[in-house]
Amino acid sequence: MTGVISPPKETEQVVGKPINRVDGRLKVMGAAHYAAEIEQENIAHAVLIQSTIAKGRIKDIDTSEAEKAPGVLAVLTHRNAPKLNQTEGSFFSGKPGEKLVPLQSDEVFYDGQHIGVVIAETFEQAKHAASLVHVSYEEEKPTVEIEQGLSQAYQPKDFFGQELQVQRGDVAKAIAQAEVKIEQTYTTPIEHHNPMEPSASIAVWNENQLTVYDATQWVIGTRNIVAYTLGIPEENVRIISHFVGGGFGCKGYTWWHTILAAVAARLVGRPVKLVLMRQQMFTSCGHRPPTIQQLTLSATRDGKLTAIRHTTTSQTAEVDEFVEPCGLTTRILYATPNLEVAHNLVRVNTGTPTFMRAPGEAPGTFALESALDELAYELGIDPVELRIINHADVNPETGKPWSSKYLKECYQIGAERFGWSRRNPTPGSMRDGDCLIGWGMATATYPGYRSPASAKAQLFADGRVVVSSGTHDLGTGTYTIMTQIAADALGLPVEQIEFKLGESSMPLAPLAGGSQSAASVAPAVQGAAEELRSRMIRLAIDDELSPLYRAAQEAISTENGRVFLKNEPSRGETYAEILQRNNLPILEVEAIANTAASESQQNSDNKVVRICVGKNENSDWQQYAFQSFGAQFAEVRVHPHLGQVHVTRFVSAIDVGRILNHKTARSQILGGVTFGLGMALMEETVLDQQSGRLVVRNLADYHVPVHADIGDIDVIFIDKPDPHISKMGVRGVGEIGITGVAAAVANAIYHATGKRIRDLPITPDKLL
Ligand code: MOS
Repeated sequence: MTGVISPPKETEQVVGKPINRVDGRLKVMGAAHYAAEIEQENIAHAVLIQSTIAKGRIKDIDTSEAEKAPGVLAVLTHRNAPKLNQTEGSFFSGKPGEKLVPLQSDEVFYDGQHIGVVIAETFEQAKHAASLVHVSYEEEKPTVEIEQGLSQAYQPKDFFGQELQVQRGDVAKAIAQAEVKIEQTYTTPIEHHNPMEPSASIAVWNENQLTVYDATQWVIGTRNIVAYTLGIPEENVRIISHFVGGGFGCKGYTWWHTILAAVAARLVGRPVKLVLMRQQMFTSCGHRPPTIQQLTLSATRDGKLTAIRHTTTSQTAEVDEFVEPCGLTTRILYATPNLEVAHNLVRVNTGTPTFMRAPGEAPGTFALESALDELAYELGIDPVELRIINHADVNPETGKPWSSKYLKECYQIGAERFGWSRRNPTPGSMRDGDCLIGWGMATATYPGYRSPASAKAQLFADGRVVVSSGTHDLGTGTYTIMTQIAADALGLPVEQIEFKLGESSMPLAPLAGGSQSAASVAPAVQGAAEELRSRMIRLAIDDELSPLYRAAQEAISTENGRVFLKNEPSRGETYAEILQRNNLPILEVEAIANTAASESQQNSDNKVVRICVGKNENSDWQQYAFQSFGAQFAEVRVHPHLGQVHVTRFVSAIDVGRILNHKTARSQILGGVTFGLGMALMEETVLDQQSGRLVVRNLADYHVPVHADIGDIDVIFIDKPDPHISKMGVRGVGEIGITGVAAAVANAIYHATGKRIRDLPITPDKLL
């Protein structure tokens, strides 16, 4: 036998594989350090003092006793706090979560507003001293609920550039001529994000350089806002956020506690740690505002929608504006010639609302998808069938084709997996012993956002590869999927790639919100890694000392850190050998994806190349509509005497383009559905109508689902690449999981009981 070397197998792609989280071991060992866990020598602790009225003025704030308490280093109030800059800019140009700058005046606009900071040697000392600060107020009557402020309602203009008041066709005429009509009001309460990890900041000054370890969804945004409000250059501020224990939107904006931590640290000349207590998570980093949604659907007898009118009234703070854009999805979900979407806002005395878990889509699809179910019953048409009848083949607002859409497949595959065809549509027709069983469904949808992003790939002379980008892993799996992409692009096993993220000094990446991180950052990581690989191959080809000297590019393959000839695998060398022979300690490439910049640049020492990937995709961006879709199916078991609802089975069939890792993507949908079940059945923050104070402000009263609340959740992905969003073909997975869930559950409850509950959460009292 001669020594025949078999040709290398086409290297197996690791992208798509359900590999374990690369940071999983760190997490289970407690070695993944979250913001509040970063060790700092000589650290001091800050505790916030918050108002206990919802509107009025601070008459007196007596800090003398607190100042004398053991361990206290300083007490800040509006009387001695430094001036901080207020910005009128937008979210993207550096606006904090709330415009109101704390500790600048004696005015109080909501319960829980920051009115002081105590800094002490220990957390316990700071907390104790905070209790010794005596505040007296001049109290005014607050506006607490939407209904109280309706006469002052106004129409906000846009939601981050998207029109909020939209009309097409003639809605009034279509509704007047309707063969069948549904006209109902749906309401949702205040909800809070409640990530496991509370918001936390550790601020460390070194001369005029500030480092903040922060629980944030956007290191770059946080850097810009901290710099602006403190009035220092951006290059003097560094934000680090290697691990985040869930954000769900409440860590998207930068909130004032982070800035106050920096102020406190500068004041006492020591590192300062400030962690929001669970109760403060209910007042100091946003919430989902309550909504009142009026929906009118008109249709022909055979189920064709002739008009949709969706009017949302929600609330914002007296001190800032945020809109829950419930109707934006309604514009595009179904094909209807006549449409009217309106949004109204009422100012109330609460903290400023913010993005929360599919802002707009989550409550919006509850209303729209409940109404569709009501229409299906009115018409006697199967709810899945009704949605297929009204399927939007193109974006109904712009007429643009979808970049890729597999919603019909989601309905079909989801229905099959669920066993939908066995459903008897009559309410109350399905029982198991005493319990009523109900099956309901709804459509899921979320936009396919993508923003400019960049990444750097570095190969070191010892063969190690480090890839970095200033993006985030909120528990979503970013570390893992980016490692997989780099491994494939570089022909290396995942173990040899180190992916780094979460530092403002790293290549720019967008906010980890809007479910856009995978879609935005993946092409940059892929671009940087591929360019690094091809530069390395060129080094070998051009080097007469290389066994690959003058080989053809196409004849070359890479695997396991080695470059070799495809049909003569023994002829080749390792990446490390190439660099070492060329006396290159490092080969480095930075890629910018989806940017207007057109020129690739190369710097003088030839070590850093910035390439622009995704240039052509910009034209795709104009041509297509990018949106993810899915179908949610729920089975509920309702106790007829207790009104208790258990969601026993759930099927979620989702199209988000290509799946980079089936395990982490599935976890995203499991989390999203779990949010949706919480929204459907439990989550609600209540304010006292007289005082405007929060009645619900801890996890004993604010119920989020626990394991015992969750039945079987079956996740199915279509897993077909979106050919227009990027070469990777991936849209985001994060938020779509929650959309449609509350409606699917409410529809199932109707099917079980014949009771249509239009007010979330569906607690037992509403079913009795
Ligand atoms: Mo998400 S609510 O856009 O963080």
